Amino acid sequence: MRLPMRMEKCIYADYQATTPVDPRVLAAMEPHWREAFGNPHSTDHIVGWKAEKATQNATSLVAALIGADTDEIIFTSGATEANNLALFGLARHTSNKRRRILVSAIEHKCVLAAARALEDREKFTVEHVPVDSEGRIDLCALKEMLDDDMLLVSIMAVNNEVGVIQDMPAIAALLAPSGILLHTDAAQAPCAMDLHDLAYHADLISLSGHKIYGPQGIGALYVRRDLHDRIEPLIHGGGQQEGIRSGTLPLPLCVGMGAAASLCANEQASIERREIARLRDSFVKHLQKGGAEMILNGPSNEYRHPGNANACFVGHNARDILGVLQPRLAASTGAACTSGTPEPSHVLSALGLSNEESEASIRFSFGRFTLEKDVEQAANLVLQALSSLASIGQCP
Ligand SMILES: Cc1ncc(COP(=O)(O)O)c(C=O)c1O
Repeated sequence: MRLPMRMEKCIYADYQATTPVDPRVLAAMEPHWREAFGNPHSTDHIVGWKAEKATQNATSLVAALIGADTDEIIFTSGATEANNLALFGLARHTSNKRRRILVSAIEHKCVLAAARALEDREKFTVEHVPVDSEGRIDLCALKEMLDDDMLLVSIMAVNNEVGVIQDMPAIAALLAPSGILLHTDAAQAPCAMDLHDLAYHADLISLSGHKIYGPQGIGALYVRRDLHDRIEPLIHGGGQQEGIRSGTLPLPLCVGMGAAASLCANEQASIERREIARLRDSFVKHLQKGGAEMILNGPSNEYRHPGNANACFVGHNARDILGVLQPRLAASTGAACTSGTPEPSHVLSALGLSNEESEASIRFSFGRFTLEKDVEQAANLVLQALSSLASIGQCP
C-alpha cells in the first residue's frame, strides 16, 4: 500500500536513521493521548484496566513479529536501552560465572560501547568477530572463538550502514552446543526480512519503534522466558514488567509500537520489501547510467536490506556531496549517532575500506513512502552534485 507522505521539497532517503510514523500507527495511538489515556499499572479502576489491556495487545503484536510469547517482551525506551539491558543485564547477574563476550565488528555503537564498558569496568573479556568484505560474519572464525567461558555472543541481524543481513539460524546452531547465549540487535531487521521465527534462534532480541514506522522513544527486548531470572535490571523501581524494567509503560508509545510491528508482519510486508528493493535498484541504475563513478559497499542484494544502498563516490568527500544536496535530499554518511564525529565508519573499516573510501561513502535508505519519482529525482540530484563539485575542483 503506497500512502501519501510528502516532505516539502525534500526527498527523504534516510529511512535507516528513522522512519516517519505510519498514519495507521498514528491513528492507533491517537485515542491514547486523549480519552483512552490511563496508567496500565493502575489496578483499581476501569481506566487502568483498559490501559493494561491496550498495552497487552501491543505486547502480543510485538511478540508475534518475532515468534515470541507475550510475556517474553519487555518494553524499553528504544534499541539502545534494549541492547544495554541485554549485555549488562546478563553480565551483572550473580548467577553468571562466565567472563567472555563476543560481539561482531560491525555492531551499532551502543552494543560496542556497552561491551567496552563491561571490559573496562567489570573485568569481562570482549572480542570482536570479524566479517568478510560484504559484512557477513565469518562463521569459521566465530566457531574458533567459542569456549565454555563465553557468556554471550551479540550479532546484529541487519546492519544499519551497509544493510547486511546475517544468517542467524547458522550462528545460533554454532552456539547451542556450548550453552552460549545469543543476543541479536534486530532494530533494522523488521523492514528487511521475515522475522516470524527469530525468537526460535535468539535468546535475546532488541527492537526499536522508530525504525519500523512507529514512534521514537520506545523499543523492546525479547528475553526468553527461562532467562527472566538471570537478568539484572538496569532500572529499579516499581517492579513493572516482572521487575526487569521498572517504570510506567508509556501507553500511546506501546500501542504505536504494536501497530507498527503488526504492519511489518502482515501479508503485505514481503510485497512491500520487494517493491522497495526495486526502487532502490532503480536509484542505483540511474546513478550508474548517469556516469557516477561509484562502488557499492556491502553485500550482494540477496543479503542486503531492501531499502539500503551504500555507495563510495570515488575521489569525493561524502560530506561535501551531502552539503551540496541540502535542502533537497536527505541521506547520510552512516550511523546517525556517529554523524557529526569525524572518525571513519567502523563498519566500512571492518569491510576493508580505507579511510579515504569510507569518507567518500554515503548511505541512501528508502522505505514505505518512497515513490518512483523520488528515486529518479534523488539520483539526478546526486549526479548534479557530483558534477558541480567536480567543476569547482573538489575532486581530482
Ligand atoms: C542497528 C541499530 N541498533 C540500535 C540503534 C539504536 O536505536 P534507538 O534509536 O531505538 O535507541 C539503531 C539506531 O540507529 C540501530 O540502527
